[in-house]
Amino acid sequence: MSRKTTISLIKCDVGSLAGHHVVPQPLFKIAERNLQQASEKGLINNHIVFNAGDDLELLMVHEKGEANPDIHKLAWDTFKEAANKALELKLYGAGQDLLKTAFSGNIRGMGPGVAEMEIEERGSDPIVVFGADKTSAGAFNFPLFRIFADPMNTAGLVIDPNMAGGFKFEIMDTLENKKVVLKCPEEMYELIALIGTVQRYMISRVWRARDDLICATGSVTRLSQIAVKYVGKDDPVMIVRAQHGLPAVGEILSPFMHSYLVEGWMRGSHWGPIMPVGLEDSKCTAFDGPPRMVALGFQIANGEIAKDDDGKPMVADLFNDPAFELARHEALENATMLRRMGEFEPARLGPQEMEYTTLGQILEKLKERFKPA
Ligand code: 13P
Ligand code: 13P
Ligand code: MG
Ligand code: MG
Repeated sequence: MSRKTTISLIKCDVGSLAGHHVVPQPLFKIAERNLQQASEKGLINNHIVFNAGDDLELLMVHEKGEANPDIHKLAWDTFKEAANKALELKLYGAGQDLLKTAFSGNIRGMGPGVAEMEIEERGSDPIVVFGADKTSAGAFNFPLFRIFADPMNTAGLVIDPNMAGGFKFEIMDTLENKKVVLKCPEEMYELIALIGTVQRYMISRVWRARDDLICATGSVTRLSQIAVKYVGKDDPVMIVRAQHGLPAVGEILSPFMHSYLVEGWMRGSHWGPIMPVGLEDSKCTAFDGPPRMVALGFQIANGEIAKDDDGKPMVADLFNDPAFELARHEALENATMLRRMGEFEPARLGPQEMEYTTLGQILEKLKERFKPA
């Protein structure tokens, strides 16, 4: 049997420089040092630390499987230490996503977002990981549909016989905490019926139908449901496997040639256009946005991220490319159009989401003044 390797991408907003803008250097240093030490001890094989806006992202490759308590503890302890540093520096939102206090073996449900995938290594295993800021996990529904179910996006669905059997999607109902698996192309319409409701239904996993090969997994945490109030957006992560009977890296990136609207942005309360950016521009400014997405590509090789001659993991900053200039331009045009509408729907989220999060206090304040009409 071939080698089993696990990719764990665990993220947390531990505090930010100047509002909710970006992860500053001292927090990166803590993450880098802790993961380096974990590599030296043999807990993980190698890693990449990066940021999606104000979210600190720990990408770790190891052989311990998914939901491993030692890996999750490494992430938890690292976030705790970084949050303490953020507190000391009086950074904004220090420890924002650390919603629970005592770690008990699994970081899921404690605030940080988690995407993990254990794979049996193929001859060559290209991976793309995504990190987003100022949005929720539903932001991946649209691109995941296009990548794995839309033949107008993914030529391989039409051309590659290895993909002809289609893909299976696991969808979480985050309101009722239930899940369902739907298969495309047969159940494409039912799939769209659900995942078009991006605030409730979120794609958590995708498999190739003919052999159940795992090909995508995303974090589906709803922070507001853990905290029962608005505490910042979920700012999700996703891992996608590519090529050789799966969508090509270029097909995985194609949905991002255009911008589309996602929930989040200022105070997590607005629809905003997603802007695909390179790591250099992974920072939120205008109206705390626009919501941004980064994508990193790498190869899995013998239990780790393939390394260069100096032993450094090799990583491609995939959206750092003029090919996404049009999408960025579209995002900015749509951003200005939406902001001209101020606090009027549909620029602002609908009442259901608002009452559950940020509008509740206003309604409470006015309660007594409402008279029968
Ligand atoms: P594979 O089937 O080897 O992934 O090739 C497809 C391709 O190269 C298109 O990018
Ligand atoms: P984050 O969830 O990225 O911390 O953003 C919070 C916010 O309220 C932005 O306006
Ligand atoms: Mg923040
Ligand atoms: Mg954030």
